[in-house]
Amino acid sequence: MAKKINCLISAGPTREWIDPVRFISNPSSGKMGYALAKEAHNRGFDVNLVSGPVSIRPVDGIMVTRVETAEEMRKAMLEKFDSSDLILMCAAVSDHKPKFQWEQKKKKDQFPQNIEMIPNKDILLELGQKKKKLQTLVGFAAETESCEENAKKKLNLKNLDWIALNDVSIKDIGFESELNEVTLYSSSEEKVKLSIATKEELAEQIFDIITK
Ligand code: PMT
Repeated sequence: MAKKINCLISAGPTREWIDPVRFISNPSSGKMGYALAKEAHNRGFDVNLVSGPVSIRPVDGIMVTRVETAEEMRKAMLEKFDSSDLILMCAAVSDHKPKFQWEQKKKKDQFPQNIEMIPNKDILLELGQKKKKLQTLVGFAAETESCEENAKKKLNLKNLDWIALNDVSIKDIGFESELNEVTLYSSSEEKVKLSIATKEELAEQIFDIITK
C-alpha cells in the first residue's frame, strides 16, 4: 500500500500579549488555512493543522494543535516538520512582539505611551533552512505594494517551492473574506494566477498545482 502523504498546515493569526487583557494581532480568520486542511483531508492525506485563535470548527479526522503566540506556533511547526511531506504556511504570524509582558492588567493611567517591540523568529525561514529534498514547502505572502517583487523575494529567501501571493489591498478578498484570489510562483519560475473564488475552491486548485 502506498505511504500516506503527511501534510502540515498553519492557519489563523498569532496573538502577542501586552498584558492579560491586551494583545497585538491581525485580522486573519483562519478560513484560508482551514479550507486547505479540509481539502488535504479530502484527498486522503494525514493532516496536522497548527491553528492560531479562530472560531472555525475543523472537520473530523484533522489533528489540530491550538496555539496563540508566534513562539508557540514555531514550536508546534518544528515538532511536526521532519515527519511532514507537504507543508503549507498560511498563518498570519506577527512579525513582532512586545519586549515586556505585564503580568497584571495595566491601569489606564499607567499605560505606556510607547511599547517597545522586538522581532519574532521567522518560522518559514527556519523551515526553509531545514527542508529536505523530498519535502514540498509552500508559503503565503500577504502584500499591499510591489506584490510580485515582494512575493518572489520571500520565495527565494525562505527556500520555498511555491509561494501564494495574496494582494490584501484588494477589497473583498484576503483577510476574513469568504473569497480569495492568489497568484502562485514556483522556485522553477512558474506563475499561475488563480481567479477570485471561494477559499474552498482555491484550496482545491492550489493542491492540484503544488502536487502535480
Ligand atoms: O485567515 P484568512 O482570513 O482566511 O486570511 C488568509 C490570509 C490572508 C491570512 C492568507 O491567505 C495569507 O496571506 N497568509 C500569509 C500571511 C502572512 O503572514 O504573510 P507575510 O507576507 O507576512 O509572511 C510571509 C510568509 O512567512 C507566510 O507564509 C507567513 O506564514 C510566514 N511567516 C511570517 C512571519 C513569521 N514570523 N514567521 C513566518 O513563518
